[in-house]
Amino acid sequence: DQKETVMVYFIQEDGSKLPGKARVGDNLLDVVVENDLDIDGFGACEGTLACSTCHLIFKKKDYDNLPEAPTDEELDMLDLAYGLTEESRLGCQVIVTKDMEGLEVRVPQGIADAREPS
Ligand code: FES
Repeated sequence: DQKETVMVYFIQEDGSKLPGKARVGDNLLDVVVENDLDIDGFGACEGTLACSTCHLIFKKKDYDNLPEAPTDEELDMLDLAYGLTEESRLGCQVIVTKDMEGLEVRVPQGIADAREPS
């Protein structure tokens, strides 16, 4: 049912681990917002696929288990993300599922907001 929640953890570059209660069906940006997690600059475009500040790095096995493959729009935006990896996704495009209980994702340092000219 829609009240189902899982715990996910956001690991920052300094090693700190921020726990977030995630509602199944929400995306990972919602989780950061709803849990009021203090991640600098995260989710600047509020999930409209116009920045890349919600860049998250998954473990290989978790990445492979994600239910939805990234869309072309997400991939284009990811290309602009700082520190892109093979297991990178944009948090606002990843929907929480029941099997994400205990999921750990890395928050890369050096957030690039694609909306701001550098
Ligand atoms: Fe901007 Fe995800 S919050 S692309």
